[in-house]
Amino acid sequence: MDTFKEADSPSFIIDERRLLDAVGNVQRAISVTGAHLLYAIKAQANTDVLDVLRRHVSGFSASSLFEAELARSLLGDAGSVHITTPGFRPDEVDRLNELCDYVALNSLSQLERFTTAFTDTSIGLRVNPERSFVKDARYDPCRAHSKLGVPLRQLADLVETDFAALGAVDGVHFHSNCDSGTHAPLLKTVRHLSKKIGRLLAQVSWVNVGGGYLFSKQAKVEPLCEAIALLTDRYGVEVFIEPGTALVREAGYLVSTVIDLVVSSRGETLAFLDTTVNHMPEVYEYQYEPTVVGHVGKGKFRYRLVGSTCLAGDMFGSYAFDTPLEIGSRVVFADMGAYTTVKAHMFNGINLPTTYWVAENGDTALRRRFTYDDFVSRLGEEAHASI
Ligand SMILES: Cc1ncc(COP(=O)(O)O)c(C=O)c1O
Repeated sequence: MDTFKEADSPSFIIDERRLLDAVGNVQRAISVTGAHLLYAIKAQANTDVLDVLRRHVSGFSASSLFEAELARSLLGDAGSVHITTPGFRPDEVDRLNELCDYVALNSLSQLERFTTAFTDTSIGLRVNPERSFVKDARYDPCRAHSKLGVPLRQLADLVETDFAALGAVDGVHFHSNCDSGTHAPLLKTVRHLSKKIGRLLAQVSWVNVGGGYLFSKQAKVEPLCEAIALLTDRYGVEVFIEPGTALVREAGYLVSTVIDLVVSSRGETLAFLDTTVNHMPEVYEYQYEPTVVGHVGKGKFRYRLVGSTCLAGDMFGSYAFDTPLEIGSRVVFADMGAYTTVKAHMFNGINLPTTYWVAENGDTALRRRFTYDDFVSRLGEEAHASI
């Protein structure tokens, strides 16, 4: 099947071959470091994707009870489940203790309240290294008033004044970057932590350095190797690294169709698509211009691609092509594997894209087609049930 032409529109297409390329690329970079590769399933929790990745990683990282359940159900005993979240809650910690092997508590308050619940789980603490590398505060875990992890200054203070209070802590977690093309910030962060909380690093048995790095093929591996060597050689810890985007972004496509063409009051041609930013919310949140297959900077036919909700800002950007678009033309977005399906929603009652899986041998299978029942089941019936 010519998937881009024949698939339902809109549809998400996930390609195993591109997924395997990305895994190989990340594995090559970390193979010399001795770090354990995890996958942060928040980026893409499609079960075909998880089924492939579980064979190539040491475990999955979760951010909630549901993700931890999913991670464990796919891994069985053949991999570790890790969790960190600001949202640990008393009614869930016992189940998380059963599901997870490693937990990174997000605050000193959680450490005080939940340590006794995690009897079968290695307990770590998430630290906010207070070194920002992300310009947009909405995506910066080290932003002012950050809710993510114990501020390094507070932790360093505790290490100094009441080290015994950290007696139960067996691991340190940090995650402080987003879409970084180089590992230099990781090295800076590790050096900074080593300076400020070296005594704690010497006590713990593992450090999780989070995700946020793209492992682009051009990136030098030296800063990554140096950062991990500093942790393993000086402190004798096991190191976990938990990318999301780097493993899945390039494996996904979103196929859409032009449903209207209109000239705007300023003379631009608007090409209305049967998809919307509902299906890739980060385009709207982040003003991120997605990659469109066939876009050529100097193409003769230029369009503003727009989505089909009532939201005025439901727009993808300005793109040019060598051949004109017509009603019925297909427009394919690439690099759609990360933070799309997991965040997609049905605002305006617009259906979710059908999902297809392209296997390593090139065979395409339809995996999920959504219906009116999917739309209404979240909004109807059960909402009337008495509590
Ligand atoms: C704690 C943690 N680990 C890993 C990741 C994965 O990050 P990325 O997809 O940028 O690699 C995130 C993303 O938000 C995160 O919050």
